Amino acid sequence: MTEPAIVASVLGADYAGLGEEVAELAGAGVDRIQWDVMDGHFVPNLTFGADVVAACRPHTTLPFEAHLMVEKPDRWLEAFAAAGCDTLIVHQEACRHLHRTLSRIRSLGARSGAALNPATPLESVRHVLDQIDLLLVMTVNPGFGGQAYIQAMEEKVAEARVLIDRSGLEVAIEVDGGISTVTAPGARRAGAELLVAGSAILGHPEGKFAAVAELRRSLELPSRPAAENQPMEPIR
Ligand code: DX5
Repeated sequence: MTEPAIVASVLGADYAGLGEEVAELAGAGVDRIQWDVMDGHFVPNLTFGADVVAACRPHTTLPFEAHLMVEKPDRWLEAFAAAGCDTLIVHQEACRHLHRTLSRIRSLGARSGAALNPATPLESVRHVLDQIDLLLVMTVNPGFGGQAYIQAMEEKVAEARVLIDRSGLEVAIEVDGGISTVTAPGARRAGAELLVAGSAILGHPEGKFAAVAELRRSLELPSRPAAENQPMEPIR
């Protein structure tokens, strides 16, 4: 298992100043930025398009990942890759031909990710493990930030850890939803390496820097000085 990385979801950011928000998150010491892309069909919410992501790309050198909570994600792969996302995450539940979609993501030069809703079994991605660089185990039902962490998903994370380790493949396990200083240690112990946090960072009363420092402490990670805004080495 690699050292855990903190991924900031910008779902709860101040949309009137997204570029500055992204730069501040980088300065606060997060490792990656996640864009929660929602189409109002796959989930009952509507958020950003690729143009918004592209507009924020110049504001940080941190890696961007697009969490595509959309129906028929194949329509959007090129646009989000071109917007500067180095990882494209699609939902298993939204893909009629998941293997083909994942291989298309890689053909675009991006890292590929498959996301599983809480009710979706791990078995559904067993046969595409060799097509993914990242497995996102949702710890809430997708669509909104600020929801309660579903602790039962730690069992799925632990199962995924065993499955991936046995495969010998390099697939990072990511969790998303309700991640905080309280829930992050359990998710980490279960086997998660990438921890996506939105409201725990953006809703923190003392601001982003304090929030990220607390999250890092909860994971026994060294505190990080204000980020030099340098990209992380891609987790492979
Ligand atoms: C759910 C979203 C959220 C977001 C972060 O569709 O994917 O999980 O990233 O939400 P919180 O505020 O729970 O960290």
